[in-house]
Amino acid sequence: MGTVSDRPTLHPVAEANGKIILVGEHAVVHGYPALAAAVEQRVRLSAEPSAARSTPIELRIPDWDVDLSLDPGDPHPIARASLEVLAASDGPVLGWSIRGTSDLPPRAGLGSSAALTVAMARLVLGPHAPVRSIVDVSLSGEAVFHGSPSGIDSQIAARGGVLRYIRGEEPTALRIVTPLRLVVAPTHIARSTADQVAKVQRKREQFPRCADATLRALADLVDPTETALLRHDTFGLGEIFTMAHHLLSALDVSHPRLDELCQLACNEGATGAKLTGAGGGGSLIAVVPDASAEDQVLHALRSTGAPAFATDIRGPAPT
Ligand code: PMV
Repeated sequence: MGTVSDRPTLHPVAEANGKIILVGEHAVVHGYPALAAAVEQRVRLSAEPSAARSTPIELRIPDWDVDLSLDPGDPHPIARASLEVLAASDGPVLGWSIRGTSDLPPRAGLGSSAALTVAMARLVLGPHAPVRSIVDVSLSGEAVFHGSPSGIDSQIAARGGVLRYIRGEEPTALRIVTPLRLVVAPTHIARSTADQVAKVQRKREQFPRCADATLRALADLVDPTETALLRHDTFGLGEIFTMAHHLLSALDVSHPRLDELCQLACNEGATGAKLTGAGGGGSLIAVVPDASAEDQVLHALRSTGAPAFATDIRGPAPT
């Protein structure tokens, strides 16, 4: 962003929401549709000029134990991604201090990296920048974390609401009248999205017909998921979630802890549960039909050490 002196500057504050993938993760990498929803949890950034204007940008996010100086040689993925975002948006690279807070755990399949790169793009481009520019800039940072991301995380972090997305196309926002309550449980098992995506690719090479049929089956759940969301059909949605979880397990992207917690959530009153995001750890989501089931599921998950929380899925996002 240009100033009177043409020295790039930053806006004082910016934020972006995290996400869950309702159905279609992994399939979306291979050109099939997927549905993603914004969660209330988010990343917030604030920026102010440093006293020394020629020192590298300082980035501190204590919630993630991040305290970085954005030097081009720093191998930390958050430093590299932040520099990519700043370069792609013609932002400053020296003389600023950025401080962040996050109620999204990192590397949990909840879109923390897209929330960070979207919030950082907004720091440079401002609150009125076209959403497509924000997504494009975010994607240059996301590539550091994910290799070749489908773009779904950046789209939902930038647009909010609930989106149907096909790689390379403009997403469509779903008009959900009644917000849907979901329980989200991070497992705290770290994994790399790029490794999980590579695992599915190996399955496609080993067993092309079977793996592609499974990806197609995941995509076939997108229309019924949309219908269930629009009707607020928590039982139908639960059945879909459980089926999607088993299909993702067939691609070997689940984890014993995810399987165990999905089963526990269903035993305690959830109508269905699935892993969300790349899997192999990360988080699960469960559909709860009412407030008493929500309490029971949250209590059961937390008693195993999973920091479960509930969130509302709603759309479309306010513009
Ligand atoms: O980064 P995660 O865990 O939210 O996974 C993103 C979803 C994938 O479909 C697995 C990858 C992608 O690029 O869409």
